[in-house]
Amino acid sequence: MKLWGGRFQKEENQMMEDFNSSFPFDKRLYQEDIMGSMAHAKMLGNQGILSREEAEQIQAGLAEILTDIQSGALSLSGDYEDIHTFVEAQLTQRIGEVGKKLHTGRSRNDQVAVDMRLYARHCAQDLHEKLKDLVDALVSTGQENNCIMPGYTHLQRAQAVTFRYYMEAYASMFRRDMVRVENSQNLLNESPLGCAALAGTTHDIDRKQTAEELGFAKPVDNFLDGVSDRDYLMELLADMSIIMVHLSRLSEELILWSSQEFRFVSLDDAYSTGSSIMPQKKNPDSCELIRGKSGRVFGHLMGLLTTMKGLPLAYNKDMQEDKQPFFDSYDTVMAALEIMCGVIRTLRVHQERMEESVKNGFLNATEVADYLVAHGVAFRDAHGIVGRIVLRCEEKQCAIEELSLVELQEFCPVIEESLYDYIDYKNILKKGNKKEML
Ligand code: ARG
Repeated sequence: MKLWGGRFQKEENQMMEDFNSSFPFDKRLYQEDIMGSMAHAKMLGNQGILSREEAEQIQAGLAEILTDIQSGALSLSGDYEDIHTFVEAQLTQRIGEVGKKLHTGRSRNDQVAVDMRLYARHCAQDLHEKLKDLVDALVSTGQENNCIMPGYTHLQRAQAVTFRYYMEAYASMFRRDMVRVENSQNLLNESPLGCAALAGTTHDIDRKQTAEELGFAKPVDNFLDGVSDRDYLMELLADMSIIMVHLSRLSEELILWSSQEFRFVSLDDAYSTGSSIMPQKKNPDSCELIRGKSGRVFGHLMGLLTTMKGLPLAYNKDMQEDKQPFFDSYDTVMAALEIMCGVIRTLRVHQERMEESVKNGFLNATEVADYLVAHGVAFRDAHGIVGRIVLRCEEKQCAIEELSLVELQEFCPVIEESLYDYIDYKNILKKGNKKEML
């Protein structure tokens, strides 16, 4: 079923009809589509373009359609070109001829643009909430396990940090993601309704009214831009891609940490799976899937950028291709955030194992150099001295603090008994700005 055909003499090719139809995927916009239509009908009534009764009849019909879809009494199925066609057809079926007046002063071009903005605004809100949950999970799991652990550069043990601080690093990333999503949400909050096909309408419509009714800050400035702007979708896809980068990095850490080589953490059974052949296996599939799904979200961003890049103004059917990538990314990122939140909340942190690892790998070597500096040695000389101490320790397979004072003094005479306290891992974190990590 189509909303056009008057000027056609032949039937549409069947495959072309399927190729053209967006109903299988844009039906998820039913709520937004109905809200947009209700606002439009109300405004048409206020402006005297339709009579008050007509406008009210249309609005009541639309409200009924919405209720029926929500209750399951009306199923979103059938041979329709798109959600807009479905709703209009339903309306006319229910309220008769007056239903045909709904589309006065409007085009599907501004209609779909409104639907997508409303939908994207809602998605941004959902993403924001899920990000907040994850931040809370990271902060509380960190606080519950405030032990020291090795920090790495080049994936080589570098200096002592705390697990709480490590989790805070990820919380900072997800907090930035929240701000990014808020910014996108603010930027997209303009109404394209009333742009009509591309050039407005001869009817005396009021775009401010509909914008306000739908909770938009204002109508868009320009009709041509209004119907063909998909920046907000690209932007949210970019935001979601960055969220996936962050989730994927965190996943990678957890995958490494849960390996036998690290044994820093164990994932809860609820977020792990087993092997069909190796009975001993417990695999971190939750994290692997999140890491893997990042590729799919990045792909959707690239896809939409490519779809949009060559389009002249104003609406082009290419833009129908904005929906599946956006919907799929949203579903994927929402699920990934929720799963990661569960992983973090149920994570078992092996504090002793982490603390043990801090002691191997000379994670206090920089502090030995700091000690020498505090006793008058220039840092560059101190660096060389500690390097030689580390070499000796490697030969003897011991930690720096396991060398005797006499032996240490061979390398540098300023070293005193106080060094041992200075480079003790628990004490290190009480000095300078390292206190922030405690
Ligand atoms: N299904 C279309 C889309 O998603 C709706 C707009 C159709 N406009 C048109 N002029 N055919 O973009």
